[in-house]
Amino acid sequence: MIYFLATVAAIAGFLFGYDEGVIAVVRPSLDKDFPMGPLVAGFMTAAVPLGALAAAGLAGRIIDRFGRRRVLMAAAALFALGALIASAITAVWMLVLARLILGLAIGVAAVGAPLYIAETAPHRIRGALVSTYQLAITIGILVSYLTGLFISGDGTWRTMFGLGAVPGLLFLAGLAFLPESPRWLVLKGFPDDARASLRRLRAAGWPVDGELDEMVRSAQAQAGRKTGYRALLEPAIRPALIVAVGLFFLQQLSGINAVIYYAPQIFSHAGFDSASTQMLATVGVGTVNLLTTVLAMFLIDRIGRRPLLILGFAGASAAMLVIVLAVIEPTLVPSWVIIVVLLLYIASFAISLGPLPHVMMSEIFPLRVRGLGMSMASISNWGFNFIVVFSFPLMLAGPGLAFTFTIFAVICLGGIFFTMTRVPETTGLSLEAIETHCHSGRPLVTLKRGVAAGAAVAAEDD
Ligand code: BGC
Repeated sequence: MIYFLATVAAIAGFLFGYDEGVIAVVRPSLDKDFPMGPLVAGFMTAAVPLGALAAAGLAGRIIDRFGRRRVLMAAAALFALGALIASAITAVWMLVLARLILGLAIGVAAVGAPLYIAETAPHRIRGALVSTYQLAITIGILVSYLTGLFISGDGTWRTMFGLGAVPGLLFLAGLAFLPESPRWLVLKGFPDDARASLRRLRAAGWPVDGELDEMVRSAQAQAGRKTGYRALLEPAIRPALIVAVGLFFLQQLSGINAVIYYAPQIFSHAGFDSASTQMLATVGVGTVNLLTTVLAMFLIDRIGRRPLLILGFAGASAAMLVIVLAVIEPTLVPSWVIIVVLLLYIASFAISLGPLPHVMMSEIFPLRVRGLGMSMASISNWGFNFIVVFSFPLMLAGPGLAFTFTIFAVICLGGIFFTMTRVPETTGLSLEAIETHCHSGRPLVTLKRGVAAGAAVAAEDD
């Protein structure tokens, strides 16, 4: 059941990825029916991240209040509605409205889906299961790129927008068969329902009492503590907030969406003139992104979050610097090297900076503020996504590609420092063990050592 749940919840990621990628490929046919000036086009494109940004702020409260599953169902229905409106519009303002609706749905689901998976997964495979969300984002991006490669011609934008309703409806139908998060049920005071949910989630005959007791004890220990946004600033929780918001800042300022949204333009700047080479290289970007995410899912619960992050930041900044060199001194670097290096950049991203912020934001907050903490992390994700996507064309036209990529490279180097000094290792720990450490007064970054030391003391006491 847990694998089915992760697959269904991850459809939210597919919707996110499809909408990120689709706008790049529908523009030529859309422009024929609705010619748009740069300002209107920019606003229409940015409507999804803007809607998502607005929803991210509210999502935590709604999800904590009404439950993970029910809110995801509402988001799925909203998504299908937005896709259908987008395919049927008769004026540009309607498209902006439709994309705002899509953004709202994606923004809520981007908080709810990883949270729902993390709270239902057994902790040994939690990292891999939450990463299915990122995997689905990469599939969504690739599918939209490929659809753009295969479907072209007048009016095809209507089909491409309308197709988005299909995964939206599948998401809704799948959720109807799933149980609510047992942790949320415990939080709301329904331990019997939580037990029933756990029984459905675990293999038949699997004893669930130990897991349930840990959830109940943890919720009791939290009872009476503050729950609002203010609670995020308490000394016990602030370090988690810094890690979650910081990781998404670094993820976006690594320049990933400059590459995802503008890959064909980057290839043209690097000297590849033919449109078909640019499109093929773009599909290559999508494919490497997807395949490396699969590798990340395999490694995440084995070698740990921190080593993967350091590897990813180092690889991404080295790749960016080679591209800078190629742009400044084209004679030094053959042009095919640029494609290879850009793919290495994507691989470095996908093995760490892609999945890990989503995974870690769902792990490091105590249950009573998990939804709110993830809301803040998601605001960071969409806010910086918007800033990069909006400013990248201006940066290309102004200071240029080399300068912009140097900024991304330096920020990735900063990511290594941030990981070493701030990011805790959560691999293999239950959400409750992480929560206990947060309240122990010890620095968050010492999490793994702290939990091991606590376990040793408990063993001695026994
Ligand atoms: C990011 C997106 C990005 C995608 C690329 C996600 O984790 O949040 O902004 O486009 O990865 O795969």
